[in-house]
This record gives sequence, C-alpha cells and structure tokens, in this order.
Amino acid sequence: MTLGWDYPLPCRRQRAGADPYTHRLVGVLKLELKGITKRFGSLVANDHIDLVVEPGQVHCLLGENGAGKSTLMNVLYGLYDPTEGEILVDGKPVVFKDPGEAMAAGIGMVHQHFMLIPVFTVAENVALGNEATKAAGLLNLEATREKIRRISDQYGFDVDPDVLVEDLPVGVQQRVEIIKALVRDAEVLILDEPTAVLTPQETDELLDIIRQLKRDGKSIVFISHKLREVKAISDTITVIRRGKVVGQADPTASPTEPGIRHGWPHGEPDPRQGARQGR
Ligand SMILES: Nc1ncnc2c1ncn2[C@@H]1O[C@H](COP(=O)(O)OP(=O)(O)OP(=O)(O)O)[C@@H](O)[C@H]1O
Ligand SMILES: [Mg+2]
Repeated sequence: MTLGWDYPLPCRRQRAGADPYTHRLVGVLKLELKGITKRFGSLVANDHIDLVVEPGQVHCLLGENGAGKSTLMNVLYGLYDPTEGEILVDGKPVVFKDPGEAMAAGIGMVHQHFMLIPVFTVAENVALGNEATKAAGLLNLEATREKIRRISDQYGFDVDPDVLVEDLPVGVQQRVEIIKALVRDAEVLILDEPTAVLTPQETDELLDIIRQLKRDGKSIVFISHKLREVKAISDTITVIRRGKVVGQADPTASPTEPGIRHGWPHGEPDPRQGARQGR
C-alpha cells in the first residue's frame, strides 16, 4: 500500500479526539481531492475537481446523469486511477491502488448497484473479504454476527444476521452494505445515489440513519439528484456539471451569497430561492 503517512495506520485512531459530551471518538478523517481529472479515452469524466470532505459532515454531490459523480467517487475509493490530481487524507497525499487500500484508510462506499451475494446470509456477506472476521482462513461467523447485532442496535438497523440477503427488502439490503463498511471501521461513507432504489418511507429512514452516523462523527458523501433530500441533510453541497464543479455552497448560508444559484442543475428550482420566498 502506498500511503504518504509517516506513521502506521492504527495511529490514525489514536490521534482522534473524544467528544466531550458523548466521550466517543469523533471525526478523525479529513479528505481532500485536488485537481482530480479522469479521462476515458477522449471523454473527460472529471475535469480538475477540487473537493474537501470535512470530518463529521454530510457533503452532498449533486449533478445530472453523466456529470461525473460516480467516477469521482470511484477514484476516491481506489477503483480508478486518476489521470491527474491527488487525494489527501488528513493533509497527507495518499494513493489507493484498490478499494481494500481505501477501506484500510477508513473510507467505505455503497455503490449504486449493491455488491451482495443474494444466496448468502447477511453475516456471510459481511464476513466475506474482511480479514478481521477470518480465523485460520475460515469465516468467523459468530464474531461477525455479534458485530452486526451491535451495529444494528446502535443505529436501529433492525437487521438479522442469519437471514438470506435475497429475502430482504431493498432498503434493508442497503443497510447490510452500510454495515459492511462500518464493520471495517469506515470513518467516511460514500453513498452513491442511495435513495434511487428506495420508497419515500425507506428514504426517510435512511436520512435518519445518516443523521445518526453524523452524530457519531462519521462523514458522509451523499450523491443525489433530489433537492428535498439534499436540503434535509447536507452541510455542504457541491454541484458538478459535465465533469466540472460549477457551484459550492453551505446550504444554511444566506440566499444572497453568490455561488450555488449559478450552479444548480438544469430544470431544477434553486432551493435557496424557495427559502427566500419562505416556502
Ligand atoms: N468505465 C467507463 N468507461 C468509459 N466512460 C465512462 C466510464 N465510466 C463513466 N464513463 C462516462 O463518464 C461520464 C461520467 O459518468 P458517471 O457515471 O461518473 O456520471 P454520474 O454523474 O455518476 O451519472 P449518474 O447520475 O447517471 O449516475 C459519462 O459520460 C459516462 O458515460
Ligand atoms: Mg452515478
């Protein structure tokens, strides 16, 4: 693994601060993407994108189909090499050769299309590929079940470790994907259009889960087309159009502040116009 840190990975957690009220470890990971460009042949999917994900924040990526959102996150998650640019974790340059290296650094991702094996149980899916849940090369299912129950209780996931994934509704399958990342100690969770497959009620439940994760000091990168969701949970909004960042804003900032109004996707009303009109 090619990491720019001059200290071993476990020390990352030792440097974390404790929340004075909850005594939990809080936001230990600041992510910066600097000048990220990703080309596929002549197509420029990401064009010199700068992005900062602050610890413990919900950062929303908003943009039309094909804007380059998933590509950018796949670069961050080690699935694609950037053509240009660099990734910094806590100010130090890192290079993730594959998702395993991104996960080891505390980054988890739930893709638009889930990566679960339908005929396996929840515990088997969570244990697969996770070295920490293997003993002597075998899956340690009892330890995994225990971790799933603990995380499920903590976040109100209501996930039974022994159920087959194919028997679960889509919203619960998504929680299994989130559990997979949390079992691996993700500090930053990338959710790529998580609500596209959800009912309105499941969407509200997911937004509550995101709020809970944030309270626990996790950062979330939330990709969406939907302004209602973005307004409901974002601390920061970055608008991407045709591979470029075209607007960036704090959703609670004054509506007179320039920026996001000019970057909002085509055909969508500017939510801050709505706020100004008291809607
Ligand atoms: N592996 C690939 N090879 C070639 N072109 C790609 C590849 N992945 C993405 N692209 C192209 O890069 C551009 C950005 O795609 P990307 O999937 O990142 O957009 P997106 O913002 O996530 O869109 P959506 O909202 O539809 O998910 C698109 O033109 C897409 O066709
Ligand atoms: Mg996408």
